[in-house]
Amino acid sequence: MKTIIVTGGAGFIGSNFIFYLMDHHPEDRVVCIDKLTYAGNLSTLAHVLEKDNFRFCKTDICDREAVYRIFDEEKPDIVVNFAAESHVDRSIENPSVFLETNIIGTSVLMDACRKYGIGRYHQVSTDEVYGDLPLDRPDLFFTEETPIHTSSPYSSSKASADLLVLAYHRTYGLPVSISRCSNNYGPYHFPEKLIPLMIINALNDRPLPVYGEGKNVRDWLYVEDHCKAIDLVMRNGRVGEVYNIGGHNEMQNIEIVRLICKRLNKPESLITYVTDRKGHDLRYAIDPTKIHNELGWLPETKFADGIEKTIDWYLKNEAWWQPIISREYQTYYERMYGNR
Ligand code: NAD
Ligand code: TYD
Repeated sequence: MKTIIVTGGAGFIGSNFIFYLMDHHPEDRVVCIDKLTYAGNLSTLAHVLEKDNFRFCKTDICDREAVYRIFDEEKPDIVVNFAAESHVDRSIENPSVFLETNIIGTSVLMDACRKYGIGRYHQVSTDEVYGDLPLDRPDLFFTEETPIHTSSPYSSSKASADLLVLAYHRTYGLPVSISRCSNNYGPYHFPEKLIPLMIINALNDRPLPVYGEGKNVRDWLYVEDHCKAIDLVMRNGRVGEVYNIGGHNEMQNIEIVRLICKRLNKPESLITYVTDRKGHDLRYAIDPTKIHNELGWLPETKFADGIEKTIDWYLKNEAWWQPIISREYQTYYERMYGNR
């Protein structure tokens, strides 16, 4: 039986990871640390909140005293850090909170790991630390050896955190691992991101704002496949190593938006081309050979099935997303898309 601290567990991937742990390792104790920013939602965790082997702490990972207190009480075996500011567009608008949470927060967690001892600290990172690939070179992929070369304040903050994690391993011998995953999709995805935003706008017959020409390529992975990969890496992955995670499922943004229109029986005339994102990365594509060879991981959900499950989830769970889009989200949406 292990005690596992999961930070950012009220967000999209963190919550799915908590459900994965509860299902696959019911003997473990899970302690979720989450500040509940605009992106965190306690209602997502409603059905695990009362479980005996679950504890929720509304805490900022930058709050050293509070974090140390939790470590002192829980003596965790493993810490998995999902907590982050995660949206590129918001990082372009206001980078500072990205530096606070994504870099300083990571260092506070690792200091706590050093102080109280730990079996493994796992950092959930992103393929965006590698920058982007050209659209006309489909033969190129990100490997773990690809140099860090970031584009946005978001990806730069994540890359900075990765460097700190590796430094804590080299300097203090902290038993760390890092995973860098491609774009996730699935239930509980916050509707500022491409797929849930397009589903919800289409359902409401609102314009579907595609940046630039919609030709940028992302490598989409169903969230549960990502959760399984993290679970494998944090338990069996080699200490001090980086593992790329991706599904070899590259698609242009416009293909995804068209597919959503078709599935929801909405006209493509809703598609509106808007001003491109500043510094917009062209293509992400992961080579997941290392995690496959070392840990036997392969994605299990085909995109056709995953997107069907995801759309179905949003259709059935309006009670989850409706309150979100009527809060801060409205002013965000106006700021981001009003004059675009
Ligand atoms: P999200 O924005 O949905 O959730 C982030 C969670 O972190 C929220 O619950 C929020 O309340 C919490 N949080 C933010 N600041 C905090 C702080 N200072 N202290 C404590 N909690 C805080 O993000 P997500 O999409 O679930 O991403 C989770 C992690 O996975 C991030 O580290 C992100 O960089 C990484 N990642 C995401 C993707 C993707 O496609 N979404 C892909 C690869 C990697
Ligand atoms: P996003 O979901 O923000 O993820 P990331 O930028 O981290 O890959 O965006 C995915 C792609 O979709 C990206 O190329 C930007 C594009 N996009 C749009 O065209 N319109 C939108 O309204 C959003 C949110 C994203």
